Amino acid sequence: MVLPLARRILRAAGGRTLRVADWLLDTFYHPRHPMNAQAIERAATTMAHADQILVCAGSGLSAESGVPTFRGKDGMFRDPDISRLTHVDTFFSDRQRMLTWYQERRDALSAIAPNPGHRALIDLARHGGYHFATQNVDHLLEAAADDAGFRPPIYHLHGSLLEVRCHDCGHTFEDLELDLGQLPACPVCDGPLRPGVVWFGESLPDDDLKASDEAARRCDVCLVIGTSGLVYPAAALPETARKHGAVLIEINPNPSALSDLCQILIRDKAGTALPALAKAVARQRS
Ligand code: OAD
Repeated sequence: MVLPLARRILRAAGGRTLRVADWLLDTFYHPRHPMNAQAIERAATTMAHADQILVCAGSGLSAESGVPTFRGKDGMFRDPDISRLTHVDTFFSDRQRMLTWYQERRDALSAIAPNPGHRALIDLARHGGYHFATQNVDHLLEAAADDAGFRPPIYHLHGSLLEVRCHDCGHTFEDLELDLGQLPACPVCDGPLRPGVVWFGESLPDDDLKASDEAARRCDVCLVIGTSGLVYPAAALPETARKHGAVLIEINPNPSALSDLCQILIRDKAGTALPALAKAVARQRS
């Protein structure tokens, strides 16, 4: 936004000094400035020599697929009601409103597709040794994996919007057609059905958390993509990886709460940085 505007003013003004300023803008302010190129090369060298890589993904990874992030100027939490709708207490105090909102999010899933960032990650993972711990409740990593005909291990720390679960007996199934806004009952025990996501006030799924934690302990590289790093225990995974000797690489156009922990910072969008990184890793390996 700022860059094209600055460039337009400079072009309109013309002149040598202004052309120098234009070059400076290109070099230092463009998201893909040379410092990013260097960071991508460093990251690629590290990754090409790693056996085990843990990818910790947040909502920024799906932002370029049209899924809104939570925080920041375009984030869902701009609407003060969303904190309430993502808390388990609301299932008991305002179930109709909560499940209608979740059904709208489930309906929106059919219109979204993986972006170049998801596809590049799956491309990288073909080499083996990759594990994914995602906070995202969409199916975009799986969709990219299915398109590529190869599924690496993907752990869903905050569950999945595709799934429906009985709040009473835990019976779980995938059904995007089922309208949660109609407050359907469980086919097994007649209990109340809900989306298969984790709400604030609830624990994370044991198996996914345990598998992610193990991957964090043994990885050589931890790739932290598109997360503010504010929500625990997901944000503890890069910390665990670092404590156990992993190199941390962050891909995020903005600083996050985890930036200080990361040795390599790629300040760009996932949809741009990841394809460049996948190419650089392939070059390093050939
Ligand atoms: P946030 O909304 O907190 O952070 C999104 C991050 O993505 C920010 O750091 C952005 O700078 C970055 N970002 C935006 N666009 C990007 C892009 N194109 N490429 C790369 N990065 C980009 O989202 P999360 O950290 O995922 O939990 O939020 C964590 C959890 O908070 C969510 O899983 C959800 C929420 O409450 C539950 O609902 C339990």
